[in-house]
Amino acid sequence: MKARVYLTRHLPGEAQSRLKARVQLTVWPAATPPPREELVRGLAGAEGLLCLLTDTVDEALLDACPSVRVVSVCAAGYNNVDVAAATRHGVLVTHTPGVLTETTADLAFGLILAAARRLVEADRFTRSGKWEAWDPGLLLGHDVHGSCLGLIGLGRIGRAVARRARGFSMELLYHGPRRHPEAEEELGVCYVSLPELLVRSDFVSLHAPLTAATRGMIGRAELGLMRPTAFLINTSRGELVDEQALYEALAEGRIAGAGLDVYAREPVDPGHPLLTLANVVALPHIGSATLATRARMAELAVDNLLEALEGRRPPHPVNPEVLTPGG
Ligand code: GLV
Repeated sequence: MKARVYLTRHLPGEAQSRLKARVQLTVWPAATPPPREELVRGLAGAEGLLCLLTDTVDEALLDACPSVRVVSVCAAGYNNVDVAAATRHGVLVTHTPGVLTETTADLAFGLILAAARRLVEADRFTRSGKWEAWDPGLLLGHDVHGSCLGLIGLGRIGRAVARRARGFSMELLYHGPRRHPEAEEELGVCYVSLPELLVRSDFVSLHAPLTAATRGMIGRAELGLMRPTAFLINTSRGELVDEQALYEALAEGRIAGAGLDVYAREPVDPGHPLLTLANVVALPHIGSATLATRARMAELAVDNLLEALEGRRPPHPVNPEVLTPGG
């Protein structure tokens, strides 16, 4: 008897057909997340859920779907899942870190370059027909090479950004809940307090997961410490930042610009104040969006799900304690 699995969106690449061959699969066909009632209906009698970061898995859903044993999130960040509730329900949660590290670091670095050198504004300008002559004062930006990069979070992605920054001769600072002496040695990154990082950095790049401790960690006070020539780069989660405070800092020229891939509410409202500012580069949460990486994420999400459903330890469990009850 094949296990029943509900998949909340079509997956890129071959992973979905591999999953379909092994389980009884129901797929939500739309391009937007299934509404709660549909999710509950689809999960009736299902043992597995393969979902995206847009699907909320909370206590109420787990209560309503007692047959579910495994929740496989096709993302590195799993803040959409109440992991404590899942653990209480004996539900294993898995995610897909590692395979998207370099791709997301590429995008973070792209945002640094795009924000500092005004690439998006320059593209719009070129197309607008306003370009009259080479002009020594046209679209002047800020140098990336030789500047100071402050990384908030030095996990896989933070380190991958640091490696890129070394090629640009950047000074590297980091802050996080703990020090990483081996990374300090290998990458030449220097641990500093959060205020010192904010005061010294030309680019502040966020690479922390969204947790109770990090939610809103960049607010008015933190932005107030940044230099008027500095940029905030966010490829992690929007809720790390107080967006109203960020808007005010940008609009009043208290910081130079921002490169954002993530927002407190996604999709971000096109009328959002941040999107009215020329010194903001705004992307639609595409950090891991390459053909190869999205296919690898889907493969890993399927591996995690199948291994767990078949009683083996999956590659990336979030709450492995549910695998050894009482242990
Ligand atoms: C994307 O934001 C992810 O967490 O994988």
